[in-house]
Amino acid sequence: MSRSAHPAGPRHADVMTEGHYTAPAEDLNALDEKVWARTVTRDEHGALTVGGIGVARLAEEFGTPAYFLDESDFRARCRAWSDAFGPGADVFYAGKAFLSRAVVRWLQEEGLNLDVCSGGELTTALDAGMPAARIAFHGNNKTVDEIERAVSAGVGRIVLDSFQEIVRVAHIAQRLGRRQPVQIRVTVGVEAHTHEFIATAHEDQKFGIALADGQAAEAVRRALTLDGLELIGIHSHIGSQIFDMAGFEVSARRVVQLLAEVRDEHGIELPEIDLGGGLGIAYTSDDDPREPHEIAKALGDIVTRECEANGLATPRISVEPGRAIVGPTAFTLYEVGTIKPLEGLRTYVSVDGGMSDNIRTALYDAEYSVALVSRTSDAEPMLVRVVGKHCESGDIVVKDAFLPSDLAPGDLIAVPATGAYCRAMASNYNHSLRPPVVAVRDGQARVIVRRETEEDLLRLDVG
Ligand code: LLP
Repeated sequence: MSRSAHPAGPRHADVMTEGHYTAPAEDLNALDEKVWARTVTRDEHGALTVGGIGVARLAEEFGTPAYFLDESDFRARCRAWSDAFGPGADVFYAGKAFLSRAVVRWLQEEGLNLDVCSGGELTTALDAGMPAARIAFHGNNKTVDEIERAVSAGVGRIVLDSFQEIVRVAHIAQRLGRRQPVQIRVTVGVEAHTHEFIATAHEDQKFGIALADGQAAEAVRRALTLDGLELIGIHSHIGSQIFDMAGFEVSARRVVQLLAEVRDEHGIELPEIDLGGGLGIAYTSDDDPREPHEIAKALGDIVTRECEANGLATPRISVEPGRAIVGPTAFTLYEVGTIKPLEGLRTYVSVDGGMSDNIRTALYDAEYSVALVSRTSDAEPMLVRVVGKHCESGDIVVKDAFLPSDLAPGDLIAVPATGAYCRAMASNYNHSLRPPVVAVRDGQARVIVRRETEEDLLRLDVG
């Protein structure tokens, strides 16, 4: 089965190759802090706890499968990003990774801004009280209705993605008597992957206006002539799950080059650049993500250096991390249902969820870790594939991992680092019910997105 390249990188897009697994960890009971939320630990009986609450109690109260999100970790990561970038820059949390009204309130309290990319995300943000001025609106094909709502609400910026949209947003803003702050999203000819970047020919994608052939310069020219628009800067987003800063370096250099061209042609220095999101997290112990302060320093240095070289004042920088904030803060808790050992091959462990709560393994060949969390075990490691309960063999949650060989039906296992793009991409496949998201903090657990019910399914099905 071949898959075409995906922005999440080649490790997400490869064929479903065999034998990704390495040797089992020395201690299967150990919880690698790289992949688990910060307050996760084991209690004196060996059961995993988060925010001071044990998984047995969580499973009892909220059921499985369920996502448990460590609220203090989420808040700490927000603070780490805003402290790293400081008052001279803006951090926009990318809501597509996971958005709920509680999340919007945490973002406000921690001083972050929010990137939304649909009417639904905009509604969630506004309903939870996010000031419109702190919202950026994205998307390659925003509807007229979405643009009207964003402009009327007074969003802080709309990121223009095409020549048609430049005119469309300008008209709508003018009709509504507004001058809408906008950025232009450019494709800089860089596609970054987890461990590499490719710096040619990646204009072949639906997003943005190419820097090549003077197209972005033409977009700037048009935006500057339209009364409804206030052009505040240039935007670039180069990919997702990126560890290597080299792609950002090329992107920043090319964006600053455009700012210099704009200054030379129009005599104005655009005040802002946005370098997008895409910073990688650890899904397994093999991944080594950068800390926000390293990223802030690297990006700041690149932009300052390039601006100095071009005689430009350093613009205000913004970034849009989604995965790097919410990804590590949650795990999915499952109950083991059936266990099927295949002699000499592997053992299939079926859980009560699957591709409906985590499509990333099937879609991108993403790798995850897994641990037995209702107890510890000293049994020998066994090679497992954690699979779901859906009616297809591609329904894989964790392709290759090791769990103790005394694993039994009824045990609870957890998959860490499922905070980003899991609930957000969950489906009702097989009429399954999308799991709840439960926020845990200081010994308190509360549902922030409830579990779907069969009544919800029937309500949508109008008969
Ligand atoms: N800004 C823009 C303009 C984006 O398109 C994205 C992600 C982000 C920020 C946030 O990227 P992050 O920091 O979360 O990587 N569903 C895929 C990821 C798709 C990302 C799309 N855009 C996955 O599960 O890997």
